[in-house]
Amino acid sequence: MAAQLTPAVLGYTPPDPPIEEFTPPRDRAFFADPKKSALFEGATAVEEVTPYIGTELKGLQLSKLSDAQKDELALLVAERGVVFLRNQDITLEQQHALADYYGVQDKDPIQENPKHVTVVGREGNIRGHDFFGADYHGDHSHEINPPSYTLLRMIRTPPSGGDTIYTSQTALFDKLSPRFQKMFEGLHATHQSELSYMNAINHGARPHRAPVATAHPLVRTHPVTKLKSLNYNPTFISRINELNAEESNHILLFLREHLHSADDLTVRWRWTPGAIAFWDNRIVVHRAVPGGYDTTLREGKRICVFGERPFFDAEGSESLSERKARLAGEGTNGTNGVKVNGTNGSATNGEKGHMS
Ligand SMILES: [Fe+2]
Repeated sequence: MAAQLTPAVLGYTPPDPPIEEFTPPRDRAFFADPKKSALFEGATAVEEVTPYIGTELKGLQLSKLSDAQKDELALLVAERGVVFLRNQDITLEQQHALADYYGVQDKDPIQENPKHVTVVGREGNIRGHDFFGADYHGDHSHEINPPSYTLLRMIRTPPSGGDTIYTSQTALFDKLSPRFQKMFEGLHATHQSELSYMNAINHGARPHRAPVATAHPLVRTHPVTKLKSLNYNPTFISRINELNAEESNHILLFLREHLHSADDLTVRWRWTPGAIAFWDNRIVVHRAVPGGYDTTLREGKRICVFGERPFFDAEGSESLSERKARLAGEGTNGTNGVKVNGTNGSATNGEKGHMS
């Protein structure tokens, strides 16, 4: 029994009331120097892990960042989707303080400690009916104010296994045909926590709040970068509201395939003890790869901060390709380092290369 109605679910009463909508403090990325000079000058290396998503910062300790560097880090995360750092000495208390700097700490409906979620390993029949939560998701996107930034620090990791995969929803939107982009803009999807709620209770957890269902735009605007992204979440979305039932079912299946086949828009992060991933839930979906390793060897601490209520601003935002074309027309280099126009590769001796 996992995400099903059971006597345990029916007999359970959550203690807390629903969360009301609120306006979070201004995103720290708005305060950053767009060049991110303080952050980059403090690092020994700044490496793009893939063209579309993921940057690794080397030679920096999050525990010692200045406020200017913290703001620039938020902007880098907003631009690159996820930023990685290894061998961090930050303590749990310092991690709490860092999250406080970025906003109001969010509380996952099933987290036990009031200030963080303990992330562990998962195994079992990950392809079975009763294994809930192995798919991509943005953390608790069913809230009215879903998280903006998430900071996950891994304390212990197995020698292999338990990687986390991140995919750029900004790039997923950009890779849709213009027809599909236009069709999806303005639609809303229902994000609901009912399955997660039932699954938690059936595994002995005690959720704080009753399940919720919230309509969010299927295409959203990032408040800082003003880029359009998909706001798709296969774990929590149950329907697309403006479509008929079968239309909705098939479009959701298409979106699932669009996401799951997007290797080019994805980064797979192999954890080591003390490594940190800092990502923007508004533009990234992620999944921890379960199974195949000793789950007692995986433990991390995750902290989120509340984001704004997702919105779509048709006039005030653009796709990645539109951004790239506009900046090229203005003779300006983009700040997000994203390469949009691909060319076929050639070997250095002029032969046509094979990609494998
Ligand atoms: Fe997650």
